[in-house]
Amino acid sequence: MKTTTLSLMLFAGTALAALPAQAAGSLNLICSADVVICEQMTGDFQKETGIKVNMVRLSSGETYAKIRAEARNPKTDLWWGGTGDPHLQAASDGLTLEYKSPMLDQLQDWAKKQAEGSGYRTVGIYAGALGWGYNTEIFSKKGLKEPKCWADLLDASLKGEIQMANPNSSGTAYTALASLVQIMGEDQAFDYLKKLNGNIAQYTKSGSAPVKAAARGEAGLGIVFMHDAVSQTAEGFPVKAIAPCEGTGYEIGSMSIVRGAKNLDSAKAWYDWALKPEVQSRMKDAKSFQLPSNKSAEVPKEAPRFEDIKLIDYDFATFGDAEKRKSLLERWDREVGASAN
Ligand code: G6P
Repeated sequence: MKTTTLSLMLFAGTALAALPAQAAGSLNLICSADVVICEQMTGDFQKETGIKVNMVRLSSGETYAKIRAEARNPKTDLWWGGTGDPHLQAASDGLTLEYKSPMLDQLQDWAKKQAEGSGYRTVGIYAGALGWGYNTEIFSKKGLKEPKCWADLLDASLKGEIQMANPNSSGTAYTALASLVQIMGEDQAFDYLKKLNGNIAQYTKSGSAPVKAAARGEAGLGIVFMHDAVSQTAEGFPVKAIAPCEGTGYEIGSMSIVRGAKNLDSAKAWYDWALKPEVQSRMKDAKSFQLPSNKSAEVPKEAPRFEDIKLIDYDFATFGDAEKRKSLLERWDREVGASAN
C-alpha cells in the first residue's frame, strides 16, 4: 500500500517536473562549431531549462547562406558558433536581431567589440588562432620537414599532402583566405593560394575535417584552427599544432539571434545561458579548446594562448563585410577553386 502511494507520488512528481519542460517551448538552433560541443551544449541546455532544442550542425558559410535564403520565413531561431565574419555579414545584411544580453559586462573586450561592431546583432563566444596540424608519424616516415611558415606549405615535397576547407562553405577557410590577404596583400595572397593548390589533395566542406583526416592518416597536414589540431592530439593522434612564423589570423567565434525568430524567448534564454562562465568552462569536456569569452570562465590548459602566437591585427570590419566576402570568394572560385581537383 505504502509502495503504491509512494510510486503514485513519484509518478505525479515526474509528471509535474515534466510539465514546465513542455511549457518551456523549443528552440531551432544551427550550430557551427564542432559537432561534439554542439551536442554537449544542446544536451546541457535541454536538461537545465526544459527547452527542447532542434539542432543541426552546419559550417559557418553554409549557415549564412541558409539564413539569407530563409530571410522572409526564418526556420532558425539562433545561430551558435562558427567564425565571426559570416555572423558580421549576416548582421550587416539585417538578417540577425539586435540583443543586449545582461551578460555583456562579463565578457572579454574582443567579445564586446564584436557586439559593438555589429550594432549588438552578434557577440563573441570564443576565440582561436589559425594555423595547421600535421601528422608527425607520416612526416617522419616520408622524411618531410616540419612546416613552420606559410611559405613552407608550398614546398614541392608536400604535393598531395595538404587538405583545407572550401572558403565558400567553411568559416575556417574564409579566415585563412582573409588572413593571407591581410598578411601578403590581395594579389600576392591569390598567387600564394594558386601555388598552394598544387599541394592540396582535397577541399573539404567543414573547417576541422582536414586535421581529422590528418589524424587518421588520410592526409599529412590540415590547415585549421590550432585548437582543432590540439583536440586531435588530445584524442591521442600523432598530430602537432603549428602557429605560422609569418603571423596568422584568428576567429572570434560568435552567436546571433535570427531576425524573425519564432521562438524568441528560447533564443534569448540560450544566448544568456551560453555566455555564463560555468557553461563556457565545460566546453573543454568536449575537447573544444578555444579561449572562452566570459572573463571568469576557465581557460583550458590545452588552449593555444594568443600570447604565444604571432597574431595579425585582424580587420573584422573589412573582412566581415558582405561585399568583401562576395568579391574574395568569387575571385577564389575563379582563380583557385576552378582548377581544384
Ligand atoms: C571548428 C572550430 C570552431 C570554428 C568552426 C568553424 O569547429 O573548432 O572554432 O568556429 O570550426 O567551422 P567551419 O566549418 O565553418 O569552418
